[in-house]
Amino acid sequence: MRLLYLLFIINWISFAHATPILVDPQDRFSPTLAKQGMVVASESFAAQASLEVLKQGGNAVDAAVTLGFAMAVTAPRAGNLGGGGFMLVYDAETQKVVAIDYREKAPALAHKDMYLDQNGDVDAVRSKFTHLAAGVPGTVAGLALALEKYGTISLQQALQPAIQLATDGFPMPATLANAIQDATERFQRSAASRAIFMKPDGSFYQAGELFKQADLAKTLRLLAEQGTDAFYHGKIADQIVAEMQANQGIISKTDLANYQPQIRQPIQGNYRGYDVFSMSPPSSGGVHIVQMLNMLEQFDIKQTGHNSAQTIHIMTEAMKRAYADRSQYLGDTDFVSVPLQGLTHKDYAKQLTQQFDLQKATLSQNIREGQPAVYESPETTHYSIVDKHGNAVANTYTLNFSFGSGITVSGAGFLLNNEMDDFSAKPNVPNAYGLIGGTANAIEPHKRMLSSMSPTIVLKDNKPFLVTGSPGGSRIITAVLQVILNVIDHDMNIQEAVNAARIHHQWLPDKIFMENGLSPDTVDLLKQKGHRLEASRTMGATNSILIQHTDDNKRILNGAADPRRPEAIVASY
Ligand code: GLY
Repeated sequence: MRLLYLLFIINWISFAHATPILVDPQDRFSPTLAKQGMVVASESFAAQASLEVLKQGGNAVDAAVTLGFAMAVTAPRAGNLGGGGFMLVYDAETQKVVAIDYREKAPALAHKDMYLDQNGDVDAVRSKFTHLAAGVPGTVAGLALALEKYGTISLQQALQPAIQLATDGFPMPATLANAIQDATERFQRSAASRAIFMKPDGSFYQAGELFKQADLAKTLRLLAEQGTDAFYHGKIADQIVAEMQANQGIISKTDLANYQPQIRQPIQGNYRGYDVFSMSPPSSGGVHIVQMLNMLEQFDIKQTGHNSAQTIHIMTEAMKRAYADRSQYLGDTDFVSVPLQGLTHKDYAKQLTQQFDLQKATLSQNIREGQPAVYESPETTHYSIVDKHGNAVANTYTLNFSFGSGITVSGAGFLLNNEMDDFSAKPNVPNAYGLIGGTANAIEPHKRMLSSMSPTIVLKDNKPFLVTGSPGGSRIITAVLQVILNVIDHDMNIQEAVNAARIHHQWLPDKIFMENGLSPDTVDLLKQKGHRLEASRTMGATNSILIQHTDDNKRILNGAADPRRPEAIVASY
């Protein structure tokens, strides 16, 4: 064992010497290194269960599906059965990247004006905290589809750790205990939520106390015994519909029976020789990451430097234009036509960058969506997985807000999403993330609401180089962008790239949001250029893996758990 460790260290040091940029633990934040398989996620019990799957010979998809179900138990703020998400899979055999879309859908009875009150104003409570806020859940069908198409283990096997964690319980993590206390008001609307997240006497769980979820365990067992039919046709469907009918909700048995996840072509771009694959609509993430990379490729941001005023100015000008286009053009491509080719075309990016003034901020009020067609996609969680076979998975899934709508399906033990708020409830009225939209993202029956979730896999020479993604609502897209830039342009190792202070601009409001870490003189220089800046809480949680390929055809997996989530972990072997 010691010999193995020694060999590993020698190998690692000699490799590190050849490429000091990526691994230099002496004077940099250092990533976790491993050779076989790696899981980077925001919760450790689930991550360890997922790693076991890899160790037993399962592939990255087996591990991702196991992790998805386990986090529904151990990280219920975002891990879910009652929500949806997106998974990108790199299949080593075919060397292809596919996207699995298991985003929620609007129920059949949804309509464009469903969140407007009698004055025609958006009723924000209705779209966020009632049974009407829930889209038809996609997670169970999506994870099952991933397993069926790309996995090697059975659904039953993938559900075992989740069943065990729900049945036997686990010590309540400190962040979950705190988050439950913060969400108390949200749980007031749901006796079933209070019964799970609070003790029978109404007091809170303390960190470290055993937390069991009996109803959720029953639901998971039913899934293991009967498969997805239990959720979309059988007993769990009945429980969801009973919950809806008792509370003026509109999800019906037909909505559940009709739900289908989709396998989609991911958005593909190329940035300085790297092939970037990210999520296609109904996510806006991939489209705008590629669009912004195309704009940034016109500038030498390596030379202007990481988080210098000039680099932030250029990035911000790109972000504003991308988000202006998002509000106009992006929606579910099963319903609306989105000029994807134009938006991701390098010539369109060139046209947009010609509008940049390198000395002065363009006011957002003077920016409108461009004309891409002439050139012819907070609480969420992201995890990245790489297996010994060379497969990779980037998965981001969510209930939308922390604990979604706060409403639990009585008897079934899982929370409902409040994803309907990601639709544009009224043109030009911002949603919870301050995002505005128009008809492309208007509510329609069966339509998927626009997302920003951006699971991303970057390839170099056709092999996975970077696996990343993030939670954070509208800030997901810019968080993922900055991890890519930090690695490719700023020569950071993956832990530095993940840790580095982030900025965000989304066109409207016309402000640069900034994490702690920008120097006062940088801020002053940006103000002189006409930017408005606002300090922000941390943005995103980009649990990432970077893969180094050595000259002798070996791989070193570099994992970085985002320190913005204290319980995030790299589990590897
Ligand atoms: N619910 C956040 C998103 O999908 O973008």
